[in-house]
Amino acid sequence: RWSNLPPPTPDVVFTLNSKAKAAADPKINLVIGAYRDDDGKPMPLKVIRKAERILLEKNLNYEYLPIEGDPEFCDASVKMLYSGVKDLPRQRIAAVQSLSGTGACRLAAEFVARTTGVNTEVYLPDPTWANHKAIFQFSGFHHVKNYRYFDSNTKGVDIKGMLEDLARAPENSLVVLHLCAHNPTGADPTPEEWNLIADVCQKRKLQILFDSAYQGYASGDLQKDSIAARIFLARGFEYLVAQSFAKNMGLYNDRIGCLSVTCATTVASEKVFGLLQNIIRPMYSNPPAHGARLVKFVLMDETLRAEWEVELKGMADRIIRMRKILRDELVQLQTPGNWDHITRQIGMFSYLGLSKAQSQALQDRRMFVMLTGRASIAGLTANTAKLLAKGIDEVVRN
Ligand code: LMR
Repeated sequence: RWSNLPPPTPDVVFTLNSKAKAAADPKINLVIGAYRDDDGKPMPLKVIRKAERILLEKNLNYEYLPIEGDPEFCDASVKMLYSGVKDLPRQRIAAVQSLSGTGACRLAAEFVARTTGVNTEVYLPDPTWANHKAIFQFSGFHHVKNYRYFDSNTKGVDIKGMLEDLARAPENSLVVLHLCAHNPTGADPTPEEWNLIADVCQKRKLQILFDSAYQGYASGDLQKDSIAARIFLARGFEYLVAQSFAKNMGLYNDRIGCLSVTCATTVASEKVFGLLQNIIRPMYSNPPAHGARLVKFVLMDETLRAEWEVELKGMADRIIRMRKILRDELVQLQTPGNWDHITRQIGMFSYLGLSKAQSQALQDRRMFVMLTGRASIAGLTANTAKLLAKGIDEVVRN
């Protein structure tokens, strides 16, 4: 029955990560977006370890969560998203727990499939996170398209191209926007540009899904990183937000996230909430509790929250330092080209501006960046940043 199935499509990120993990030392693995410490080791946050110890003492049980997940977690998650917002219209925001950001995007896709239908045109940035396209295709959408996003000359946002493409999208199309620290390019719109994007979304009556995988991780400041959501909230939009706590709390394998839907009225938000419950129940019934307990505990406890924000800033600052070391070393080596974009870009990744052949040549030297030239800067150390610069220098000169 299944022998004639077409060959599976290997996932670009996980497949290359496995290859890099299996490669002999010495090597530099900058494939997957996961934070490493100064010694290149995975780094569970101290505050999470502390929260875990306290939770263990509480002797909690393993009973089912509600279909929508832990309500206190959802509330804390939404309030974190809008840190600093006074008079948050919480009753107009329907929120459910999700299996990290991927699960939140998938729930969002299922929600749109059931509201405006699978013929809704979906617009993703070009380029975007490798999984976005499959999420929408596997949710049944027939028209998954791209809008222009990255200008390879300036290595910044192609705002003109983006606005033109969005202005041409049919009414009700779904536009996926990265809230901050765009993956893979590390290039974000300015606040002024976010307002222009909001203008066109309003004019064209587009639906919006923000993918928020890096709040606090880009600048170390939760408020600064969520400016786009605050702009859309203040302008009265109805929109969806997929939040992940994989990176900013280092909870990669706990699969903890939140989907929130900001509605025009409380009546609408109650209906949306019910529909999301109806989508969740036949898919996975209800979500796991552990990650939600940790996140809500850290967000709601004043001391833990303060400790977390310090650790978060520490991670963001280390990435910024690694960017600087890499860029300065390239300048020092007089590597042909301009490398300022490495320090201009923000968040976990740098889109180094290397060709496919150059990226392959780095891989051949066991310096694993993706073939698009994406490198997880969070995976560098002071030492490997210098080695990478040497590698880039060689492949650029060849
Ligand atoms: C990445 O882009 O490397 C991360 O977001 C991990 C993933 O799921 O792809």
